[in-house]
Amino acid sequence: MEKKDTPKNSLEALVSLCKRRGFIFQSSEIYGGFAGFWDYGPLGCEMKRNIKESWWRFTVRDREDVEGLDASIIMHPATWKASGHLDTFSDPMSMCKGACRKLMRADQIWDVFAESAISEALSGMLTEAGKIASWCKGKGKSVAPGLYTVQHPEYLEKIFERLKTITDVKELFVLLATPDGEADVLPCPNCGGIMTEPRPFNLMFKTIVGPIEDPSNVAYLRPETAQAIFAEFGNVMVSSRQMPPFGIGQVGKSFRNEVTPRNYIFRSREFEQMEVEFFIKPDEAVELLHGHVAQLTDATDLSEPQPDWGWECWHKYWVEQRKIWLVKNGLPEASFVEYWQKPDELAHYARACVDIEYRFPFGVQELEGIAARSDFDLSRHQEHSGKSMEVFDEPLKLAVKKLSEAEKAAFREKVIAAWVARGKTPEAANAFLDRLFEGRYIPHVIEPSAGVDRMALAMLCNAYEEQALVDEKGKEDVRTVLHLAPAIAPVKVAVFPLVKNKPELYALARSIFKKLQRRYNCFWDESGAIGRRYRRQDEIGTPFCVTVDFDTLEKDGTVTLRDRDTMKQERISVEALICKLDDLIFG
Ligand code: GAP
Repeated sequence: MEKKDTPKNSLEALVSLCKRRGFIFQSSEIYGGFAGFWDYGPLGCEMKRNIKESWWRFTVRDREDVEGLDASIIMHPATWKASGHLDTFSDPMSMCKGACRKLMRADQIWDVFAESAISEALSGMLTEAGKIASWCKGKGKSVAPGLYTVQHPEYLEKIFERLKTITDVKELFVLLATPDGEADVLPCPNCGGIMTEPRPFNLMFKTIVGPIEDPSNVAYLRPETAQAIFAEFGNVMVSSRQMPPFGIGQVGKSFRNEVTPRNYIFRSREFEQMEVEFFIKPDEAVELLHGHVAQLTDATDLSEPQPDWGWECWHKYWVEQRKIWLVKNGLPEASFVEYWQKPDELAHYARACVDIEYRFPFGVQELEGIAARSDFDLSRHQEHSGKSMEVFDEPLKLAVKKLSEAEKAAFREKVIAAWVARGKTPEAANAFLDRLFEGRYIPHVIEPSAGVDRMALAMLCNAYEEQALVDEKGKEDVRTVLHLAPAIAPVKVAVFPLVKNKPELYALARSIFKKLQRRYNCFWDESGAIGRRYRRQDEIGTPFCVTVDFDTLEKDGTVTLRDRDTMKQERISVEALICKLDDLIFG
């Protein structure tokens, strides 16, 4: 068959395939579903395990400088005070004061408006004052019953001339929704009423620990896996005999009471994260140890960490590591965007943050983030727990000992000036330097943080294709195929006996299947024509199919190995099969 065309399909087609073939189901579907919660079916849970396994291998197991952790989901509530989540982890919420009483995220109101029936109606009437007025007196009553001009059509006369000039649909909506002088209020995109002033709504799920429902027993489901890593920093460092630079990786569930969970599994209320907190020496310690801090330039070789790296090199290094992992797992570089947050977008403690964004069918959206978080997190936990989060660095103490008093004073002066330039006080700089000269510091952190579910969605979107094919006889056909990376695909190999009514051939195929099953997640299929069996596997992304035929049995013992993407087949001996598959799958 010749490949004719490769249209990328919409999210709906993918969602339908994921349900039909057992990747993803709506949670509690038999009760009408539960917004923001999803269940991963037989294929989805295999795929998710593969994503986590690949991340764990690449980020934790294959490195000597990263340790693993599997911490509890519910932590001491003081954790969330220290991390800032209790006070600031919130979305601004507004409620419609008009007809519908709808609750919405204030920062998403204009996005909702863009997709609303009101926007659609108004967009078609821009500058046509007469039409707008008739709409407010007629159809507008059902589309936007809360709109001021629908409820007070007499006001239209007052603004009639202005209606002729407004070319922006948002501006028009605000004018129709609010009487004069209230132009800065937010109109409701659902009914046209007015929204309340935004109020913060904390996103953490509360629960009660123990049998007594008392406010003192309130605890929270973790909104990120990161905080347990900070809390266990000392235990992990000592028990694994690590010193900065080293990291702690964790994969696990996180929970956020998202106000508007949406875009399928992109924004859910229960999801999984894969996070590393990579602890590094402060740049000042690097300078004392090595006499300089390596500067990040376009020519910096980031393939192997170096002892003289400061935070900028480490941060860029982790951005590069994450990109290597994404590409290795099937997301081409062209499919994602590296977005460096601007200084005014950064959290106050962050020195830099890169979002890796993916071109989802619903827009370019964050897939994961890599943040340089300074010593903020460990300092906060030190402050709130009263437990030291400092490390003692013997080589640093020795390096300081070698300095003359004049050299120390010059170093102190330089550091204070740099801290003051960053908005810190000389007192804070002096306190830090006093500890540093004793070989003690709180490590800084680089945090690559990715979501498993978002990763699965990006990989599925990228993999989905409906190929229009034409066979040798000119017959047109459509092949639905998931081009998942072999390491991520839920089923690695499908094994087919060419026929099922030949006992020796069937038994041989079964024995090959059992052998492969010990290594990979395999699928056995004996029903229907071989072509149909291939198609069923293509649709779930199985990269390889092995067919046992008469030649296997009677001629040379070879099987056919069929590649999902090229649809080409080759003959290969059973002995060479595992070696070849290992190479192709785990390469
Ligand atoms: N510890 C840092 C942290 O949690 P974040 O940007 O809030 O940072 C990191 O989350 C990643 O977790 C995101 O890039 C995304 O992949 C995933 N994530 C966050 N909220 C999510 C949600 N509601 N549903 C699915 N994934 C989510």
